[in-house]
Amino acid sequence: KRLGMSASPGMVDMLTHHLVSYHELVRATDNFSESNLLGSGSFGKVFKGRLSNGLIVAIKVLDMKLEQAMRIFDTECGVLRMARHRNLMRILNTCSNLEFRALVLQYMPNGSLEMLLHNSQGTTPLGFSERLGIMLNVSLAMEYLHHEHYEVVLHCDLNSSNVLFDEDMTAHVADFGIAKLLLGDNSSTITASMPGTVGYMAPEYGAQGKASRKSDVFSFGIMLFEVFTGKRPIDAFFVGDISLRQWVVEAFPAELVRVVDDQLLQGSFSCSMEGFLVPIFELGLACTSDSPDQRMTMSDVVVKLKKIQVAYNKSIAAARNEASH
Ligand SMILES: *[C@@H]1O[C@H](CO)[C@@H](O)[C@H](O)[C@H]1NC(C)=O
Ligand SMILES: *[C@@H]1O[C@H](CO)[C@@H](O)[C@H](O)[C@H]1NC(C)=O
Ligand SMILES: *[C@@H]1O[C@H](CO)[C@@H](O)[C@H](O)[C@H]1NC(C)=O
Ligand SMILES: *[C@@H]1O[C@H](CO)[C@@H](O)[C@H](O)[C@H]1NC(C)=O
Ligand SMILES: *[C@@H]1O[C@H](CO)[C@@H](O)[C@H](O)[C@H]1NC(C)=O
Ligand SMILES: *[C@@H]1O[C@H](CO)[C@@H](O)[C@H](O)[C@H]1NC(C)=O
Repeated sequence: KRLGMSASPGMVDMLTHHLVSYHELVRATDNFSESNLLGSGSFGKVFKGRLSNGLIVAIKVLDMKLEQAMRIFDTECGVLRMARHRNLMRILNTCSNLEFRALVLQYMPNGSLEMLLHNSQGTTPLGFSERLGIMLNVSLAMEYLHHEHYEVVLHCDLNSSNVLFDEDMTAHVADFGIAKLLLGDNSSTITASMPGTVGYMAPEYGAQGKASRKSDVFSFGIMLFEVFTGKRPIDAFFVGDISLRQWVVEAFPAELVRVVDDQLLQGSFSCSMEGFLVPIFELGLACTSDSPDQRMTMSDVVVKLKKIQVAYNKSIAAARNEASH
């Protein structure tokens, strides 16, 4: 038996047919020891664990003292059990008894987008193509939830710490604790029970709790700015009237070089990249309009990002050709 492997599709199917017991999770995490703690959130703790079959997993244990613990557990299970997409975090199993609720999730060894962007000193800076690839993958997951799943799923809390990387650096959208299923027609809005993350929330979501596909699109747009500027939306730099979006608005399109992440401008292909900054930031602006009706749909975002990727790859290939002649 191979030890320490991560979930192959076969393993996943095998696992989903039995419920993990509390005792197995105790064994897997060395009794939820601090040394296996991957992170703590407002809803509980996440541990790394090794199941008896050798599979390494992430175990999200809900804090049962929280009033919303049950609802969060039910929501996340409900959404993740039905939703399957290669850019979504997979739920492998659950463990539930009177005093204990845990989700057994696909283990993501390469951290979050937030860590990758803001906490990876000393490593190779992320290039334009990688950033584009990450956002394309996030958009594919969101397109699936918004337009391809039989029930519309609103994430409601899309931010850079909820995008996680597997061993191949494929991005996975995670954390569906406050997600909502949208029943009924496409345009509907739902009143959210809990707020999302400050800095990423659409104005109508922040002020009136109105969540819709367009409020997820807004969060996506903010994340796109974060990825290409290297600035968090809650950076101390943004005070008073000057938000991340407003900062971009003021630089668009002539002075984008002023807001783009310095690391991006240092690469060898920086000249060819500059022409691609305008469509990227234009897309971000179209996702973050004040009015939900004016924001793009996730399907249109995917189309746009794919177009940019094709054009960018072409220009890279052309530049390489030139260099070799
Ligand atoms: C696990 O830790 C708890 C305290 O956190 C302790 O009460 C319990 O006995 C331990 N269980 C095992 C199997 O070591
Ligand atoms: C993203 O949301 C989670 C809650 O789901 C929160 O714990 C985290 O701090 C947020 N991340 C950022 C970068 O704001
Ligand atoms: C991602 O994880 C794999 C295996 O855990 C590791 O070999 C690789 O170096 C990691 N990549 C990055 C960019 O951290
Ligand atoms: C995006 O997803 C594809 C497969 O869906 C994968 O091959 C690629 O590595 C992913 N890239 C990123 C940056 O997540
Ligand atoms: C819902 O959206 C789909 C495409 O996403 C479209 O085909 C369908 O007509 C829409 N339904 C309503 C009621 O607007
Ligand atoms: C563009 O290049 C990236 C990185 O080399 C690759 O992952 C992606 O599949 C390419 N996309 C297209 C449309 O050629």
